[in-house]
Amino acid sequence: MEIRTRRLRGSEALRRMTRETRISFASLIYPIFVREGQGIEEELPSLPGQIRYSPDTLVKGVEQALRAGVHSFLLFGIPTTKDEIGSGAYDENGVVQQALRNVKKAFGKEAFLITDVCLCEYTVHGHCGLIEGDRIDNDSTLPLLAKTALSHVRAGGDLVAPSGMMDGTVAALRKSLDAEGFADTPIMSYAAKYASAFYGPFRDAAGSAPQFGDRKTYQMDYHNGREALKRMQIDIDEGADIVIVKPALPCLDIISAARRQFKLPIAAYSVSGEYAMLKLAGASGFLDEYGSMCESAVGIFRAGADILISYFAKELAGAIRKGDIG
Ligand code: PBG
Repeated sequence: MEIRTRRLRGSEALRRMTRETRISFASLIYPIFVREGQGIEEELPSLPGQIRYSPDTLVKGVEQALRAGVHSFLLFGIPTTKDEIGSGAYDENGVVQQALRNVKKAFGKEAFLITDVCLCEYTVHGHCGLIEGDRIDNDSTLPLLAKTALSHVRAGGDLVAPSGMMDGTVAALRKSLDAEGFADTPIMSYAAKYASAFYGPFRDAAGSAPQFGDRKTYQMDYHNGREALKRMQIDIDEGADIVIVKPALPCLDIISAARRQFKLPIAAYSVSGEYAMLKLAGASGFLDEYGSMCESAVGIFRAGADILISYFAKELAGAIRKGDIG
């Protein structure tokens, strides 16, 4: 046994040939922020290296990623005005809807467009659902999420990704998409989403931090693993086509358990805090950014993920091209 292992470690070509974990360009999804306005291309201080675009300049950002080998995108919208009911989310002329039309016009099927379906970027209170007194009202939120998903698909979205963790979301979206002639549009559900401190930089970038309380009444407690599997089962039963585990690095056990338990594709969302950690430690010289990026991504796939949503998508594509991973 020892001899066999030594032989396989022998040459670089052999090491690459016998890798157990494979990553391809097609398994990467790149999250991008789009802000209402024109001509905007601003660096995000909390996510160094990430740019916030407006619907017109986004085309440039997508083109760069396409050239790097990334073909799937997850769009997050930031409206200029917010209200109590998050109307910007389902406005036909909303920021994401504009962005979808522009990118589809420029690249057609070459760019696969996924949209985040949630109200938190569009509500004044920053919560993912409607507020009733001091609590989030699950059921009255559902029709608005369904409306949002529908408006995304009508504007050119290829896949919808509800992230608000309201019970019954997948069923509500499935029903309205089917009724409106979009039975073929898949749903990628944030089925196991923890109330995580690692979303901090995202909330900064999207301006979506809750103005009171926290998200612990609808996002999961990180002490619970079986609950994650149960929630994934519920979303699958409601019609989810792909299920997300989020965040990724603190949840490798969940990814691995989900892989064993379910037949559907599992996506892992390596969130803003995971990206910022490596970026900042890399910039200060404490960590080799490239090396730790590659190792983290491969670890997530080794745990069982089929798909990785990562702010490092372009750089990971570069590492695949070089043969360092994949
Ligand atoms: C919206 C949403 C969040 C993220 C994705 N969709 C923020 C949140 O739940 O607070 C976080 C993504 C990241 O940190 O990269 N509900």
